[in-house]
Order: sequence, then structure tokens, then C-alpha cells
Amino acid sequence: MTPDFWRDKRVFLTGHTGFKGSWLSLWLQSLGAQVHGLALAPPTTPNLFTVAQVAQDMASSTISDIRDLTTLQQAMQACQPDIVIHMAAQPLVRQSYADPVETYATNVMGTVHVLESARHCPSVKSIVVVTTDKCYDNKEWAWGYREDEPMGGHDPYSNSKGCAELVTSAYRRSFLQGQGKAVATARAGNVIGGGDWAAERLVPDILRAFESNQPVIIRNPHATRPWQHVLEPLSAYLSLAEHLYTHGQTFAEGWNFGPKDEDAKPVQWIVEHMVNSWGKGAAWQQDGGTHPHEANYLKLDISKAKASLGWQPRWSLATALGLITTWHQAYLAKDDMKALCLAQIRKYACAI
Ligand SMILES: NC(=O)c1ccc[n+]([C@@H]2O[C@H](COP(=O)([O-])OP(=O)(O)OC[C@H]3O[C@@H](n4cnc5c(N)ncnc54)[C@H](O)[C@@H]3O)[C@@H](O)[C@H]2O)c1
Repeated sequence: MTPDFWRDKRVFLTGHTGFKGSWLSLWLQSLGAQVHGLALAPPTTPNLFTVAQVAQDMASSTISDIRDLTTLQQAMQACQPDIVIHMAAQPLVRQSYADPVETYATNVMGTVHVLESARHCPSVKSIVVVTTDKCYDNKEWAWGYREDEPMGGHDPYSNSKGCAELVTSAYRRSFLQGQGKAVATARAGNVIGGGDWAAERLVPDILRAFESNQPVIIRNPHATRPWQHVLEPLSAYLSLAEHLYTHGQTFAEGWNFGPKDEDAKPVQWIVEHMVNSWGKGAAWQQDGGTHPHEANYLKLDISKAKASLGWQPRWSLATALGLITTWHQAYLAKDDMKALCLAQIRKYACAI
């Protein structure tokens, strides 16, 4: 990632009001990019978009639905971006069981609409579509998944992201490649960081319980996930978008951006680490109830990103968890959270 590359670049970012979108908007703003966002209103209360005053330095912020092709096309045409980063999605597995139709409409047709808008927007050169590690056909095996393995997804969320991968591949081959627009997909693991208040995600659940002095109830302590700090995949998306812009089709394919092998840890490891670092009577318990299927073991092989993009994870899981505790305690102390986010971004950038 070359910081100078981003100065004055026009970036169209979907999902800028979400957890990852807010962090990415702040990072891009700090690099001098002109960031134009399109998303629904922030998905939680509280939310990082408001807490870190992300709107303040956006070039434009459109509150709209990616299922509405006309408005999306108009917003992209008005921006004439160099780069499109598509992150807007219904991102929760359990919500996808509750409302599969909304999940597929947003994640699959929403992706079609973003790519269709990019296809008709002459300025666009580089497009990154954010999917997930869950897009793979999960065989519950011990090896990391490689980029050329089959798409799958047991639950509607995971499967909708597998579909978004296939949609992107078809758009690349049918339209975008021929127009000289380079499009890639980015598959990252479970992201953690300060400012995530999503329902039924591990770290937000832990922090909510700590705040109210209740033991955190854990559904699946043995589930192993490729955990990573939010700035890790965001640095990868920036690097990938830059490579697509500069080198074109060579990089127009799927990419894994996971943590170091040793940071694919069980839920129990995370919760015990956070209980110890929070102090003040923090505790956890296992939930005895039955729950819908969630994949047990999932690891990404990141050899390709290391070899071809020169990208690799910088922060250990322990470092990431320490930064989250610092972030959340500063939030509770009513500190300036925009300044803290920017300080954590600078700290990460120094590690690159
Ligand atoms: N958080 C993770 O652990 C993780 C892991 C892998 C991939 N991802 C992917 O990263 C992206 C961002 O995730 P997040 O954790 O920031 O989620 P989030 O819920 O915090 O943000 C989602 C964003 O999408 C927007 N959005 C949702 N439906 C929309 C619609 N119909 N039209 C327009 N905007 C809509 C929301 O307003 C919000 O801005 C998603 O594509 C998600 O699938 C997240």
C-alpha cells in the first residue's frame, strides 16, 4: 500500500456507515482521498460512524439502498470514481437464517447492482468486492482454504457471499475485463476491532456483558475462526485496489486475507484473554441451548497475498485484543474516538 497513491483519488465506498466502512472511510480520509459513501443508515446504536464523526470528512454520504439500482447508478455517476470498494451487505449469519430473502437480495442483487453501475461508469478502473472466508465450501478440515477451491456456504449468509463471488466472476469475464476495468474479490476472516456493536458477534457480546457486569454467555467455545484486527483486511483492500488500478487484470481475481496460522484460535481463548485483560469481575459461561448450524473450523491460506501483493498480517491476536480493550475503555471514558481511531490507524501504518 502506497500512501501517496491515495491522495485525491475518488473512491466510491458502499457500506461506509458500517463497522468496517467507518474505519476504512477514516483511513482513506487521512490519506487525502475523496471518499463518496453509499449505504443504509448505521446498522446499530451506538455505532462507529457517529461516535467517530466519520461523516464530517466524507466528500459525499448517500443514505440509500443498494437494492435500488437507479439511485445507486445516479450516485456513482455523480461521483465518477477511480476506484469502487463494495462492502455494503447483510453480514450476519443468524440474521440470514431469520431473513434469507433480505440477505440474498442485498448480498447477491446488491452486488449485481454495484457491478452494473461500475460497468456504466467510464471513470472506474479498479473494483474490490468484499466477500468473506465463509464463501468456501467448508469441509471442516484442518487445512487453510486456497483461492481456487469451490464456493459453497451452508447458511444463507455464507452462501450469498459465495454467490457474490460467482456474480463478480461473470461480470469480470462478460463485461468489465473487456472495458479495461479490473475487479477482484477479497475474502477475509472474522474481523474484530474497537467500535463494533453488531448483535451476536463475539467481541461486541463480550464487551456488552463486561459493561453491565454480567458473565458473557458463549454459544460455541470450541469454534475456531481466523480472527484479525479490522485494520488488517482494510490494509489488504487498499493494497489490492491500488494493484488493480496500477497493474490491471493481473490482479483481477479472488484473494484471501487471513491472520497468521497461530491466530486461528478457539472462541474460548479469546474470551479468557479478554476476561483477564478487562479485570473487575469479568466472567463467562457456556450457553446450554441449541442453535442453528455454524461452521466449526475455518482457516484461510494466505500464501498468494504474501507472494504477489507483499501483504501479510502485522498484529498478533493478543495485540488486537489489547487495542480493543483500550478503545472500549476510552469510549466509556467519553474520549475523542475519532482521534483514537486515527491514532490506531497511524500505529498500524507504522507496522506495515
Ligand atoms: N465483520 C466481519 O467479521 C466480516 C468478516 C468477513 C467479511 N465481512 C464483510 O465486510 C463487509 C462489512 O461488514 P461490517 O462488519 O462492517 O458490517 P456492518 O453491518 O457494520 O456494515 C454493513 C454496511 O452495509 C450497509 N448495508 C446493509 N444493507 C444495505 C443495503 N441494502 N443497502 C445499502 N447499504 C446496506 C449498512 O448500512 C452498513 O453500512 C460486509 O460485506 C461483510 O459481509 C465482515
